[in-house]
Amino acid sequence: MTRIRKAVFPVAGLGTRFLPATKSVPKEMLTLIDRPLIQYAVDEAREAGIEEFIFVTAAGKTSLEDYFDTAAALEHRLTASGKTTALDALSVTRMNEGALTFVRQDQPRGLGHAVRLARRMVGDEPFAVILTDDVIMARKGALSQMIEAHGNTGGHMVATMDVPLEMTSSYGVLDVFADKGRIAHARGLVEKPHPTKAPSTHAVIGRYILQPSIFDRLDEIGLGAGGEMQLTDAINADVGNVGVCGYRFDGERFDCGSIQGFVQATAAFALARPDLRDAFAGYVADRTQCFRSAA
Ligand code: UTP
Repeated sequence: MTRIRKAVFPVAGLGTRFLPATKSVPKEMLTLIDRPLIQYAVDEAREAGIEEFIFVTAAGKTSLEDYFDTAAALEHRLTASGKTTALDALSVTRMNEGALTFVRQDQPRGLGHAVRLARRMVGDEPFAVILTDDVIMARKGALSQMIEAHGNTGGHMVATMDVPLEMTSSYGVLDVFADKGRIAHARGLVEKPHPTKAPSTHAVIGRYILQPSIFDRLDEIGLGAGGEMQLTDAINADVGNVGVCGYRFDGERFDCGSIQGFVQATAAFALARPDLRDAFAGYVADRTQCFRSAA
């Protein structure tokens, strides 16, 4: 069983759904409760045993790199003033020496293109891809669950969740030939199928474990739908060479790439925090009551 030591974080997208905020703040730096989306993704990777974190970034995203720097002056001030709680809050941003690498995507040519840029850093070993937009609330991190399952399946693995049939046109969907518990073996993936054409309701979520053969496929496929290089096309091109399966993770996924999903995540994470839960629940209940009486 090969260990999964490296994770790629494609963070070079434009984030147009969050304009004007993302005009000067990277989407991955938007704050869910008290930490940016990138922190949730890095924490999940760290819990899964990832040692090397490869960020595919773009112009205007330097705050992402700065976020993981040691803030010497700030730490000094907090230490001097005895603000230990604030100092402790910074500890999650500390990464092991040399654990982070950054590569730039000069134009947003798609998720597949972003992953391909990590080739030299990944080398010849299986690796994880984490999309920071998909925040997953779970007892055991979704990537940890996948890595454990991948030890038995090998091949390419994508995270999946069951969606209502009418929602398939919003997701990549697995074409399943054998469904065993959390694992679904697939003939390939279909991008955003109309419900009448959907081969299943297993929707692909932003966690992948990929074999390095994906890089050759990405080289071969060129640009696809929307003039972008599609990771889905490369996975499909590798079927036959490498097995593909979906892993139904245990947990709840929030689409923080959309405003609605981000708001829902904020509510769910607030309700999961003992220090916020009661006051927040009371506030929402009152507001909902006001809203209903006014309607
Ligand atoms: P999205 O499809 O959500 O695009 O990308 P986006 O640009 O981030 O957001 P919108 O749709 O304009 O609001 C999915 C993931 O792939 C990364 C994004 O950063 C995001 O994590 N991505 C996408 C890249 O790194 N490069 C690309 O060229 C495209």
